Amino acid sequence: MLTDPFGRQITYLRISVTDRCNFRCVYCMPPQGVPHVPHERIMRYEEIAAFVQVAARQGIRKVRLTGGEPLVRADIPRLVEMISAIEGIEDISLTTNGILLEKYAGALAQAGLKRVNVSLDTLNAEKFACITRGGELEKVLRGIAAAEAYGLTPIKINTVIMRGINDDELVDLAKLTLSHPWNLRFIELMPIENQRPWGEGFPPPEDIFMPVSEVMDILQPLGLHPVELSGDSGPAIPYRLVGGVGTVGFISPLTEQHFCQRCNRIRLTADGHLRPCLMSDAEIPILPALRAGEPVLPLLQEAVNKKPVSHQLAYHISPNGRCMIQIGG
Ligand code: GTP
Ligand code: 5AD
Ligand code: SF4
Repeated sequence: MLTDPFGRQITYLRISVTDRCNFRCVYCMPPQGVPHVPHERIMRYEEIAAFVQVAARQGIRKVRLTGGEPLVRADIPRLVEMISAIEGIEDISLTTNGILLEKYAGALAQAGLKRVNVSLDTLNAEKFACITRGGELEKVLRGIAAAEAYGLTPIKINTVIMRGINDDELVDLAKLTLSHPWNLRFIELMPIENQRPWGEGFPPPEDIFMPVSEVMDILQPLGLHPVELSGDSGPAIPYRLVGGVGTVGFISPLTEQHFCQRCNRIRLTADGHLRPCLMSDAEIPILPALRAGEPVLPLLQEAVNKKPVSHQLAYHISPNGRCMIQIGG
């Protein structure tokens, strides 16, 4: 079992499989994109699977594939199949922008994927295209429907809160959980300093930041009833609206870092660096050791030992120069 210096057991590995994306969300990447990483510096599926095997022997039970957008990486169902076959892995899931879900939901389910989390910040097609810099809302909604049809459930919906951009839709978004069994989560915007400027038409993050407490005040008239926290809650504090079939959760990385105390996570970037925390001040490269046939377990243990007590988001800076698209959330 992997236990960090603060007594937290690490059982959850988030793997970013690519830092590319077919959207370019304003809060995730700078308008000019991020530097291209040469193909040979990206982890191959066999290398990822070899690492997961080591991690699973140390008690890693959950794996989440992230990006960028994981579905733009060629033949991702093959990686899902490889990871599902590893002894000890009980849950494999994926975070996606949903645009390719309609195409891949069936193959992913067949490969052993259990569930998906999908980003959805607005129900307005024009706004959607603006936030994602070109994304098509209808196609994402069809993607979510396909994921449901193939049983990639429970579906979690990620909504980043932005004052002046989607705060007029908070009630409509929350009400989706009256008719859909989704776990919708309102997420505080994490301002990443090295992603500036956001580009034309978008004020700086501090101007559009809206705390979870304010969102909860707006939703109170719908009746927010606390739901017991479970291992599946992740970083969200879940509630149910009166008559809700799904839940409405709140992720507050800036105003209330409650999740850090129960953090069970370690991250692996597409270019083979272990990140002890979402906003890590340390990264541990594993590719040289993997490619030289040397043991990677000491590197995994080092990453766990370097987990900070909590993330340092108050600084608004992503260390190591990484943007959210290169971390995977
Ligand atoms: P599951 O619990 O496996 O469903 O994952 P999740 O909800 O954490 O994953 P997802 O990729 O959907 O991320 C949702 C939001 O939570 C994103 O905005 C992430 O940046 C944020 N998040 C993920 N991990 C952490 C973490 O360790 N700390 C904090 N504060 N936020 C996190
Ligand atoms: N702040 C908050 N959430 C973010 N995400 C991406 N960038 C940010 C940010 N700067 C969310 C996306 C995606 C999840 C993995 O992370 O909504 O669903
Ligand atoms: Fe792509 Fe997701 Fe980042 Fe949007 S938030 S640019 S969909 S990786």
